[in-house]
Amino acid sequence: MDIDVRDLVDAEQGLVNRRIFIDRAIYEQELEKIFARCWLFLGHESQIPHPGDFLSTYMGEDPVLVVRDSTGKIHAFLNICRHRGNRICRADMGNAATFICAYHGWAYANDGRLIGVPNLQEAYFGELELEQWGLIPVAQLDSYKGLLFATFDPEAPPLLAYLGEMAWYLDNFFDRREGGIEVIGGMHKWVIPCNWKFPAENFGGDPYHVGWSHLSAVQVGFTPGGATRPGAGGRLIQPGNGHGIIALAPANLADPMISTITAYEETIRPEVEQRLGPRFGKVFPIVGTLFPNFSFLRASARTFRVWHPRGPDKIEVWACIFVDKAAPPEVKEAYRLAGIHTFSPSGTLEQDDMENWQECTRTCQGVVSRRYPLNYQMGLGHEHFDDDLGAWASNSRFSELNPRRFYERWTQLMTADCWAEVPNSPVPSPAGRGLG
Ligand code: FES
Ligand code: FE
Repeated sequence: MDIDVRDLVDAEQGLVNRRIFIDRAIYEQELEKIFARCWLFLGHESQIPHPGDFLSTYMGEDPVLVVRDSTGKIHAFLNICRHRGNRICRADMGNAATFICAYHGWAYANDGRLIGVPNLQEAYFGELELEQWGLIPVAQLDSYKGLLFATFDPEAPPLLAYLGEMAWYLDNFFDRREGGIEVIGGMHKWVIPCNWKFPAENFGGDPYHVGWSHLSAVQVGFTPGGATRPGAGGRLIQPGNGHGIIALAPANLADPMISTITAYEETIRPEVEQRLGPRFGKVFPIVGTLFPNFSFLRASARTFRVWHPRGPDKIEVWACIFVDKAAPPEVKEAYRLAGIHTFSPSGTLEQDDMENWQECTRTCQGVVSRRYPLNYQMGLGHEHFDDDLGAWASNSRFSELNPRRFYERWTQLMTADCWAEVPNSPVPSPAGRGLG
């Protein structure tokens, strides 16, 4: 029996019950209604460029193997053996023609077919139909500008419809130049004892914390402080479907204050402007979240990450540094170092954030604390639809418009029995109301 979370989230009034950040039953419902349904980010095509290349990841708590087969076609399968359920591939990344289970030795081709079973005749008497027991594929797999996404739900809307107006905002991060981006270096993975929604809402719509949480990082020059100045402008952009973008005013700086990088950005600006079209110059997206748990940032660092849920009070962060593929090597290296200094497990800004999300989660354990809702009322009603942006926008950069819409979407999905009941809006409704 599902929990009716409409009693817990009032997106219209900006009030959220703290139970949704700590309750095990609500977390299980999230795995079913959100993570087993939504389009989730798997990785970038540059991470598996050659036939046989693979990476392992997760969709919710389900292990997933993303592999380019020997003919070059990309697949995504549950990373579980069909025999007794052992995890087939335990390597993070690599290249393989076959995946052989460590338990009893069933062997799968890199296109998912079961091609080898030890003692097949003696054990199964020729009665095991190998073609019935291949790896289990995701329901839908698609890519957008090299970003690979999948969903376990065959009824989910097509990826482009799911992205809606968010697609143009993704281009600002991942398709600024011909060739798009590539991932450099490895992947940082670490655990934070916090609920997955706190980082997702932060990247998708919390510019408010920057001037306070990250003040020390701004003061020592790890990140440009323009966005923290009074009257600096900027706003939240709300392209619909629970996604969110934080934008600065076009004149503001967000890039690392490193001459190699600032000179590069200046050089490529005309090319980027032409590629992104007339909307470029009206708005400067610097960070965002694609609902539910894929976030990306271009302030101080170029990083994207997935907030993998690991229970109501734990996440694994999987974070990469990305660069324009066409950038020269010294620029890529400068971005790699800037990323490590700011947004990585040892990064100055990352540590500020982790502490806060951890404490926000921990206090939800208190039964009395939980009686008091969280406040998401900033800028309530102070928003407008902006035709130039194709999205709703807050009237001030200090707003909680995006978190309100994030929890509205969360509520819609948590209370719907199927995708047909979930509004698929390229732009959000003017009322901004949840289903309740
Ligand atoms: Fe994989 Fe038995 S669990 S072969
Ligand atoms: Fe932060």
